[in-house]
Amino acid sequence: MDTDYSASILEGLGEGIVAFDKTHRVVMVNGHLITLMGWDEQTVYGALPEQLFAQRPELLRTLNQGLKKKELASDTDLVHHNADGGLQHLRVSTSFLDAETRTGLVLVVRDVSQMKRMEWEIFQIEKMTALGRLAASVAHEVRNPLGAIDIQLQLLAEDLGTLTNTAKARLLGRLNIAQTEMKRLDRIVHNFLRFSRTPKLHLRDMSLNDIVRHVFELVSPEAREREIALRLELSENLPVINGDEDQLGQAVLNIVVNAFQSMGDGGDLIARTQPEAAQVCLTLMDTGCGIPEGEVDRIFEFYFTTKDEGTGLGLSIAQRIIYQHGGHIDVESSPGQGTTFWIYLPVPDAQTEERV
Ligand SMILES: Nc1ncnc2c1ncn2[C@@H]1O[C@H](COP(=O)(O)OP(=O)(O)OP(=O)(O)O)[C@@H](O)[C@H]1O
Ligand SMILES: [Mg+2]
Repeated sequence: MDTDYSASILEGLGEGIVAFDKTHRVVMVNGHLITLMGWDEQTVYGALPEQLFAQRPELLRTLNQGLKKKELASDTDLVHHNADGGLQHLRVSTSFLDAETRTGLVLVVRDVSQMKRMEWEIFQIEKMTALGRLAASVAHEVRNPLGAIDIQLQLLAEDLGTLTNTAKARLLGRLNIAQTEMKRLDRIVHNFLRFSRTPKLHLRDMSLNDIVRHVFELVSPEAREREIALRLELSENLPVINGDEDQLGQAVLNIVVNAFQSMGDGGDLIARTQPEAAQVCLTLMDTGCGIPEGEVDRIFEFYFTTKDEGTGLGLSIAQRIIYQHGGHIDVESSPGQGTTFWIYLPVPDAQTEERV
């Protein structure tokens, strides 16, 4: 009876557990870990750590530290690179199977990838908010002197106009350069401000389909010109969401603009909407250059750009808007083949509907 209970407790823990005896062979493992590690249930009993964790050197090291050096791990975070380029965050602890002789080892593994991702996203948003505030104050302070210099330069140009000597052309040329640089500074400050403002949302019931249609209409002339095929696959029974049309439009546009920039002339951009549990999902799929493996994790960082003319704010802004709506955004990319973004937004009364 007792053993029945402990078996079901071990299975229900939501953590992976494996025990090695003093000969370092597996004597117990739960189904959760078998699934998490992708092991074969038939061969796992009796296996040695080296056989099980050949692809996971970090875990193997932790195990050997316990089995051989008698050093235990407590809530140690390890990162594992999956074959598909994704990251798996594991939190592991070890204890001795036989505490008295300090032999054998029990390894407890929890997959904290989801939690880590959320922590990272929250960190990004906080960083963005802090930077936004700083940007706002700097931009505000810089704007006034910029305005004063601009006026002085204009007056100088007028004064120079009245001169007739030969130096006039040269002086006007210099002035021109100064004015061009002024405009550039003003653009930078303007972008700073654009980014730093966290606009208040004006929420109303609306359809994500309308937003997608609107954005596609905006870009369709360029698509025609560059022979990019736009395809809409909009769900007919998409639940209404509560959102700010302008802001969500901006988020979708930023992603669509990136998609265009990733494709030379010719390519496909597909927008698909579908209901998903208590959310609606918008998929945006391009056949562009894709994102190198090492960069996928960085594209939502602000100021991360690979473009000469990019500011690296497009996706940060899109992500912030989606967060403000209580949603989230995902991405997957195959270099040379294309990139897919998924935007999930909550359906406000989905829970009430479920209860009815
Ligand atoms: N669909 C995509 N295909 C390929 N790379 C992409 C795609 N979307 C984003 N990226 C990569 O992510 C980076 C960051 O994108 P983001 O929109 O934040 O900035 P940006 O486009 O470089 O500049 P900005 O949008 O501010 O003009 C891009 O520079 C690009 O390298
Ligand atoms: Mg962009």
